This record gives sequence, C-alpha cells and structure tokens, in this order.
Amino acid sequence: MVKSNEEKIRIYQLVKEILIIGGGAMGSAFTFPCIDNKNKVIITEPYNKVFIKNLSSNNKYHSSLKKNLPSKLKYKKYSTNLLKKKYDLVVVALSLSGIKFISEEFKQSKIKSPVLILTKGLKYDRKKEKIYTISEDIKKNIKNINISVLKGPCLAKELSNKKQTSVVVANKNIKTAKNICKMISTKYYITETSKDIIGIEICSAIKNIYSMIIGAGDSLNMSSSLFKKSINEMIYITKYFKGKIETALGLAGVGDLYVSAAGGRNSKMGGYLGQGYTFNNAKRKFMPNETVEGEQLAREIAPFILKKIQQKKIPLMTKLIKSIIYNKKLILN
Ligand SMILES: NC(=O)c1ccc[n+]([C@@H]2O[C@H](COP(=O)([O-])OP(=O)(O)OC[C@H]3O[C@@H](n4cnc5c(N)ncnc54)[C@H](O)[C@@H]3O)[C@@H](O)[C@H]2O)c1
Repeated sequence: MVKSNEEKIRIYQLVKEILIIGGGAMGSAFTFPCIDNKNKVIITEPYNKVFIKNLSSNNKYHSSLKKNLPSKLKYKKYSTNLLKKKYDLVVVALSLSGIKFISEEFKQSKIKSPVLILTKGLKYDRKKEKIYTISEDIKKNIKNINISVLKGPCLAKELSNKKQTSVVVANKNIKTAKNICKMISTKYYITETSKDIIGIEICSAIKNIYSMIIGAGDSLNMSSSLFKKSINEMIYITKYFKGKIETALGLAGVGDLYVSAAGGRNSKMGGYLGQGYTFNNAKRKFMPNETVEGEQLAREIAPFILKKIQQKKIPLMTKLIKSIIYNKKLILN
C-alpha cells in the first residue's frame, strides 16, 4: 500500500535514533531488542580492534556472541564528533575501565542526548575517600547530563538469542525511565522502572563479589547457605548507601545474583577459591585471559570497605576482599 506523505512523516517522527557505544558482548546483544522495537540503531566501538573488525564486516558476525548482528544495524567509526549529534538515546556498554574515557568524551562533545548506562561497577575516589556509582562519577564531570541506568539479570548471549530477559531502568524522574522502556522493550526484553538509582547501581556491582562467594561453596547446600547470607549483606550495603531494601530483593539484586552465581566468570573463579587456590594461582592456571569483574571491583572498593564498614556486618565481603588483595586462601567458615 502506498503511504501518504503525512503518514510517512508520522512514521519518521515515531522512529527513535539510538547510538550504542561499545561493541562487546553486551552492547552488541542490546542491538537486538532496540532494532526489534523499530528504532534506528547505530553501534560504535572506541577501543577493541576485534570488535571493530566484527562490526564493520558485511555480515556483522560477532565473535563473542557467535552470531550475526541484525542486518539493519549501522556501524559507525568512533569519534568525539559522533557524540555531538542529538540522539533519542545514547547507550554506554563499555566495561568499567572505559568509563573514565567516555566521561571525558561526553564532556568534550558537550553531550545533549539522554544517556543510558549498562556498565556495572563502582569507583573509589582516594582523595575524598568516597565510593561513587558510575552515574555519580560521570555527573562529577558533567553536571547537567540526563543519565539513567539499566541493570538486572542479563546474559548477553541469551539476550542475543531473544531468550526472555527482565531488567530495570532507573532514573529519579520516572517519566524519563518510562520513555526509555518504551524505546527498548520487546516481548522477550521486559523492562521495569525504579527511582532508586543508587540502590540499583550498588546492587548490580556488588553481586559480582557475592556470586564469587556463592561459587566458593563446596556443595549446593553450602552455596545455598552462602546465597542467603549474601542477600543479607547486600541488603546491609544497599541501605548503607541509602538505597532501598526492595531494590536488593529485586532484579538488580537477587535477580542478577542468581544468574551470576549459576554461571559466569565470577562464580567460576569462586569455585577455584573454594577449592583452596589463591586468586593469583587460579587466575594464572585456569582463567589467564578472562576478566573477573568481581576481582576488579574488590580491589577498587577494598580501601573503603575495610576502613569504613564494620567487618562483622559484612563478614563474607570482608573475607573475599582480603583473600584477593593479600592473595590468601579464602576460608568462609
Ligand atoms: N546492564 C546489563 O543488563 C548488563 C548485562 C551484561 C553485562 N553488563 C555490563 O556491561 C559491561 C560490558 O560487558 P560485556 O560483556 O559487553 O564486556 P566485553 O568484554 O564483551 O566488552 C567490553 C567493552 O568495553 C570496552 N572497553 C574495555 N576497556 C576499555 C577502555 N579502557 N576504554 C574504552 N573502552 C573499553 C571494549 O572495547 C568493549 O566495547 C560490563 O560492565 C558488564 O557488567 C550489563
């Protein structure tokens, strides 16, 4: 059927433009719901040569996801100029080590687009002796940036295979969070909203440490008991940073803890620690080329956690952090 000009304009106005920064497993998997929701989607990769090669190839075969990305996906070479244009949404899917870079880039480009952060982690400011969430860290650099976060249990490979996934989008302004949900939700990518941005960011980061702890259990029975104790500690830490208990019990907390403890690099490393290997030995012997996000976070927040939080309130986190930073055996009971 031939569409009238008015109809064409109406459709054009409905189409949203989304820029995804980060062509790793998560950024690339995120293109599927965005494209299925009829958005115009551009992906860019600022850092990794393998991902750049994957994304710029004709069939966009992704070497981590082991599948072709959607044919409608556009790839653009990364540049600061790319950020100067106004998009309906700019998504950050870099790992924690890329946050300093992108924060500087946002500042330089005077970003005007709303931003959504998928990255999980926390930053420690040694001078101020303070822990910052990623959104807080970026806001230190750019005061008036419109920033939301998306977290929850999501294995990138499963998302790219359109397996049902539920996540939460947080912003103090719930209308903004709802608008983002409208842009990205599909039948298989189910979204909820929250105002508890701090709780969501804290939980989604510390679950990487607790999934290591649960993985260290020597039986399912023990892991189950560690799971329960981990939830108690997650609630304590969430409240400490002024987040909500419901958040710790929601998708970004218990939900994400389940998926990370059931499978993934953190719980795999936890398994080796539970068998009596020190972190350095286990890393060298079994996981030399794999990033263990829980380890990176443990090292980042160790000075704060060990100094400022009563160790008896969070005994598991304390033991895990000490075992990593001093490279000592992990003894949980
Ligand atoms: N919110 C969610 O639903 C969700 C789900 C899964 C993973 N994640 C998070 O997404 C992030 C990325 O995970 P992934 O599985 O795609 O990892 P990955 O290793 O596949 O990709 C990492 C990305 O970060 C970039 N990067 C790494 N170091 C960098 C640096 N120094 N400077 C600039 N860029 C750098 C890489 O080039 C790549 O784009 C992690 O923080 C992970 O926890 C979020």
